[in-house]
Amino acid sequence: MTTIIDGDRIAGEIRGALEESIGALADHGVTPGLATVLVGDDPASQTYVNMKQRDCEEVGINGIHVDIDGDASPEELYDTIEELNADPEVHGYLVQDPVPEQIDYREVLRRIDPAKDADGFHPENVGRLVAGNARFKPCTPHGIQKLFSEYDIETEGADVTVVGRSDIVGKPMANLLMQKSQGGNATVTVCHSRTENLAEKTRRADVVIAACGVTELIDGSMISEGATVIDVGISRVETDSEKGYELVGDVDFESAKEKAGAITPVPGGVGPMTRAMLLYNTVKAASESEGVPVELP
Ligand code: GUN
Repeated sequence: MTTIIDGDRIAGEIRGALEESIGALADHGVTPGLATVLVGDDPASQTYVNMKQRDCEEVGINGIHVDIDGDASPEELYDTIEELNADPEVHGYLVQDPVPEQIDYREVLRRIDPAKDADGFHPENVGRLVAGNARFKPCTPHGIQKLFSEYDIETEGADVTVVGRSDIVGKPMANLLMQKSQGGNATVTVCHSRTENLAEKTRRADVVIAACGVTELIDGSMISEGATVIDVGISRVETDSEKGYELVGDVDFESAKEKAGAITPVPGGVGPMTRAMLLYNTVKAASESEGVPVELP
């Protein structure tokens, strides 16, 4: 029997535990604050930041949203970043990617106070993660690590193939998996758009993590019997449905499920874990910057 990994359930448990941590912070007069910054009006990004704000409200985090015009100059965005860096009510924040082309996202990341970097994308935090001393783990790879521990999926000694090399998922995922620590100790292969014989690399893996944004690239023929399959992809594909689109992953779920030992669905797999770990980073930032230690899930 293939295990369908229930990200909604595990994310719900993490949110429940975080509510306790938030209660402990409240006893010391601290309410964690998370700000989201959206530049422009990309519909998918709007949906994502709305969901992040709703998550904050549900667990008792003070959610603050800043909308910036899509034509704004980089300096306008930098002013907002300076204000957020200085705002004592904001413990963590993020600038939703992608940003319009007049803005250099790397420069944006450099200006974020690393202690408020809820995504863990600031170069200092990336360096700390690579060095094995992470402050904020990027939310998607961290959420996937939590799924592994919850489902007793062993990474130590496992061959893991990561398909995708993005700064947000592929690179930090590979780094976490190769660390000499719990949830690491894997032998990691990173594949990307220039990889030759992709199927050869996925077929030899105990764990395949698909994070390349190519819909249904990975099918059952590319998976070994009993492997764990983690689908990070979430693309909008236009349909005749009421919503007008359907969410499709990087894995062909039906064929991969026939071979996999465990597999994440889309939606309801990795997505809710990413959102839960953003809340986790916010509570961690609040706890550390306010000097109020709390237990984290
Ligand atoms: N765009 C897609 N995923 C993310 C994310 O995790 N953080 C930010 N800031 N932008 C994104």
